[in-house]
This record gives sequence, C-alpha cells and structure tokens, in this order.
Amino acid sequence: MSVEAHVLERYAAGAGERQEDLCCPVDYDRDLLRLLPPEIVEKDYGCGDPSRYVREGDVVLDLGSGSGKICYMAAQLVGQKGQVIGVDMNDAMLALARKYQPEMAGKLGGDRVRFVKGMIQDLALDVEATDHWLAEHPIRRHEDLLALKAWQARQRKERPLIADESVDLVISNCVLNLVDDGDKRRLFGEIFRVVRPGGRIAISDIVCDEPVPSSLKQDPELWSGCISGALQEDEFLQGFADAGFVAVKLDKWGDEPWREVEGIEFRAVTVTAVKPEGGECMDFGHAVIYKGPYEKVYDDEGHVFYRGRRMAVCARTFRFLTRGPMKDDFVGLAPAAGGPGKPWCAPAGTLRSPAETKGGVSHGGEGGGCC
Ligand SMILES: C[S@@+](CC[C@H](N)C(=O)[O-])C[C@H]1O[C@@H](n2cnc3c(N)ncnc32)[C@H](O)[C@@H]1O
Repeated sequence: MSVEAHVLERYAAGAGERQEDLCCPVDYDRDLLRLLPPEIVEKDYGCGDPSRYVREGDVVLDLGSGSGKICYMAAQLVGQKGQVIGVDMNDAMLALARKYQPEMAGKLGGDRVRFVKGMIQDLALDVEATDHWLAEHPIRRHEDLLALKAWQARQRKERPLIADESVDLVISNCVLNLVDDGDKRRLFGEIFRVVRPGGRIAISDIVCDEPVPSSLKQDPELWSGCISGALQEDEFLQGFADAGFVAVKLDKWGDEPWREVEGIEFRAVTVTAVKPEGGECMDFGHAVIYKGPYEKVYDDEGHVFYRGRRMAVCARTFRFLTRGPMKDDFVGLAPAAGGPGKPWCAPAGTLRSPAETKGGVSHGGEGGGCC
C-alpha cells in the first residue's frame, strides 16, 4: 500500500473514532475552543496552534484541515470580512468538518468557512471535480489515463482549486510531514504560489533532529503517525526559504520531544515566514538603523545592516523592515524631500548620509527592556 493510501485509511478511521496515539498535547486558546462542538475538539490530531497568527480580515487557508478545528477557531478571528478555507484529501474528514458548518455559521453570525477536497502538494487541482469527472469517464485503458491527465491540466489552469496569490495567511497543523518525500519540494512551491505578495505563513509540524533512516520511512504506522515523514529541523526551514519566503523563523519550539524512535527526537515546532512584496526597487532616499543587539545582521536578499548605522534601502525593503515581523529591530528614516525616486537598489552595505533624511519622519518604537 502506498504512503498516501495508508494516510487516507488512518485518518478516515480518525474521523470516525478518536485515535489516542495520533494526539499530541497542545495548549489551544480556550476562549476559541468554547464555541466548537465537542466532537471537533475531541478529534484533534494537531501538534501546534497556528490560529494564533490569524488577523482580522485575513483570507486563511488551512492545509490538511481534518475535523475543521483550526478553521473554526480562525473563523472567529477573521471576522465578517475574512474567509477561511480548509483543504483535505480525506472524504471522511471533510464530512466531519462539513457536518457542523450550519451550526457554526449560526454561532459565528455568517458562513465564512468552506472545506474543499484537494492534495496540499497540488493545490490547483479540485479533487472533488476530479471524482465527478471520473464517475463519467472511467479509466479502462491507457488512453483514458492520458485523457484524465489532459483534463486535469486544463482544470488546474482554468478552474484552480486555490488560485495564485489569493491567500493572506496559510496555516497548517501537523500535515506537511505526511506528504510523500518526493512531493515535498512541490508542496513548498504550492504554498508560495497561493500566498499573496506580503502574505504570511504559520505552519505547525513535527521535525526531527537527525536524518530518518529508510527502514523507519518505510514503516506505514510511523509515517501516518506523523513521525517518519518529518523533515530535519534545518531542512524544514530551508524548504520555505528555497520556495522564496523571507523572514523564515522558528517561532515555537517544543522543549520536550513528542516521540523518540531509535534515538531520533521528533518534536513539534511552528515556523512563520513572509512572501516578499515583489516589484521593482525604487530608491527615494530611505534609510534604516538596525538597533542591535548584534554587531550586524544579514537579510535573505543579502543586505547587511550594521548596528547603529544609517543603511540605504529601497522603498520596498524600508516598508518590509519597518512594518513586517522585524519592525521592532529597526528605526525607519524617511527622506525629508519627496523626490521622484530612481529605479535602483543600493548595494549591500551602502550607508545613507544623514543629510538625505534630516527633517524626514523617523519611526523607532520602544524596545522590550534589557532582559
Ligand atoms: C494529523 S491530521 C491533522 C488534522 C488537523 N490539521 C488537526 O489539527 O487536527 C492530518 C490531516 O491531513 C490530511 N492530509 C494528509 N495528507 C494530506 C495531503 N497530502 N493532502 C491533503 N490532506 C492531507 C489528513 O486527511 C488529515 O485530515
């Protein structure tokens, strides 16, 4: 049986009856859980709480939404203007999550959650539509298979399940490790594709401290139990960086390993990152000062920021550093005169003369104290 077939079987059972060995203790926000039906809370197979990163008005995509718990938590945070989409490949899990949709819509004062059938490593393909197509076009010969592939390619292009750059925040709770190793690179790419420029990710998952030998990878119980498909901690972070995300951060680290198998520690972590805004670099004369505590830091684009020095940055980098996740680490200095700007990005390490920003607006914020 393939890895995917085993994962399907195991979580179909998990939708029917709570599976104790798939449950990792998580400290969820009790206020958000209060509104949820007990069955949804009980059939929890997560290992973190990515709902903490949801903001009002967000369009949120939850990868491997299972019973819908994180989606229904997120729906309380996005408010009337937000939207939550849960993707799962498992019919039994989708049926469980959808069962409570009318009840939750009543409690939330609006139907802002939907659950769709898809594979998270192929988010453009609507698997429910594929099921309907297959019912009318059964596969009997190789030619039928080719016809299916051609239809699927058209569907991805013309009716993508999740469109390019359509999501503010991608979240996931203990699912990426379940994806076949051969598809993991594609998975990171798909996550990058669907996030809008400037959008974010918050992914809770299991990572390991040493490479997992193939004997463990071939054990279907260990794989479907969110263990042997885990990436090593550095590979997991690098997967997001390689896909194009910046500000990739290990935001939460499980102090205690969740499991230990043959001396390898498997633990829950949450990784956050941002998709760069993109667009051309325009130099209007902005500067930033890195506050410290380190002598210098580098960003993902190769810029270097020396502690206490006025570093020249383009408008896009200025916005990112002064509004993004590192905003408390930088002072922003806007130019005094609003000129037309030039399409240019100062080479790494270029200093900005104080004369260019004198009299302009500066934002420094306050630090969090010394210790
Ligand atoms: C460990 S459970 C986590 C469920 C949920 N996120 C939670 O917090 O309870 C994994 C879920 O991901 C789904 N899943 C696993 N691999 C998937 C894939 N490649 N594409 C879509 N869903 C997948 C499973 O069907 C299952 O519902």
